[in-house]
Amino acid sequence: METLSLDGRTALITGASSGIGTASAHALAREGVDLALAARREDRLDGIADEVESDHGVETLAVPTDVRDEEAVEAMVEETVERFGGLDILLNNAGLGRGGAVESLSTEDYRLMQETNVDGMFFATRAALPHLEESRGNLLFIGSFAGQYPRPSNPVYAATKWWTRGFAHSVEASVGDEGVAVTVINPTEVRTEFGSASGESFEERFEEGEVTEPEEIADAVVFAAGQRNSTVSELDLYRRDKFGHF
Ligand SMILES: NC(=O)c1ccc[n+]([C@@H]2O[C@H](COP(=O)([O-])OP(=O)(O)OC[C@H]3O[C@@H](n4cnc5c(N)ncnc54)[C@H](OP(=O)(O)O)[C@@H]3O)[C@@H](O)[C@H]2O)c1
Repeated sequence: METLSLDGRTALITGASSGIGTASAHALAREGVDLALAARREDRLDGIADEVESDHGVETLAVPTDVRDEEAVEAMVEETVERFGGLDILLNNAGLGRGGAVESLSTEDYRLMQETNVDGMFFATRAALPHLEESRGNLLFIGSFAGQYPRPSNPVYAATKWWTRGFAHSVEASVGDEGVAVTVINPTEVRTEFGSASGESFEERFEEGEVTEPEEIADAVVFAAGQRNSTVSELDLYRRDKFGHF
């Protein structure tokens, strides 16, 4: 019996315009998955959709969406389901970190992290669940090492990721009977545009080989999304020297 079978399935990826989301789009498309790609930057999504189609021969749909906007998220899921006739995989990936110490964190940055990392994942999950129950599909979250251990440098970002894990596992408990698999993937530093708002992205800060590449997280996404019976409940992908930099 084939356990990893993704060919012909449909995935919706939030935060598809960059980093882990873009790498996951390529990795899933390589397995034959049709893709709905969501993020705010429409020009980026269009370019990635064209590339994925021509590289892998799958169908794509660009759905420009701000995950903080409840109605836009509902429309994103509806459009995906209408186009592909259902939904098998949701990758809840859109997220960001801003600011640092609590004493100096602006209310604006606090709200931005909360609305993107918490509200956005809730809105997308709520809208997608009925379709994932129908397909006995896979719901994936990008969590973080920061959601597993206290993070002195940015407690609010960390708290949003603790929420992600708490939410994901509780949803896992509530939809297991419906046959939906729920996974949280926890990376440490990944070379993406993460952190670019503070002047230097992780892509710029770290040399190749120093920390994790987005393609490595994308491989974990494929592994988790390809499960047909079991749930990959949680996957930790850490840079090898993480505990020396804790
Ligand atoms: N890189 C790391 O070290 C690391 C480590 C652990 C966990 N993570 C998590 O991994 C996930 C992906 O981050 P990344 O590292 O790939 O960073 P990235 O390259 O900055 O990508 C972030 C993605 O999120 C999207 N996004 C941000 N706000 C959005 C909004 N309001 N609505 C829709 N999309 C939005 C961005 O697209 P637009 O700007 O076009 O909207 C972009 O596609 C995040 O949840 C992050 O917290 C990252």
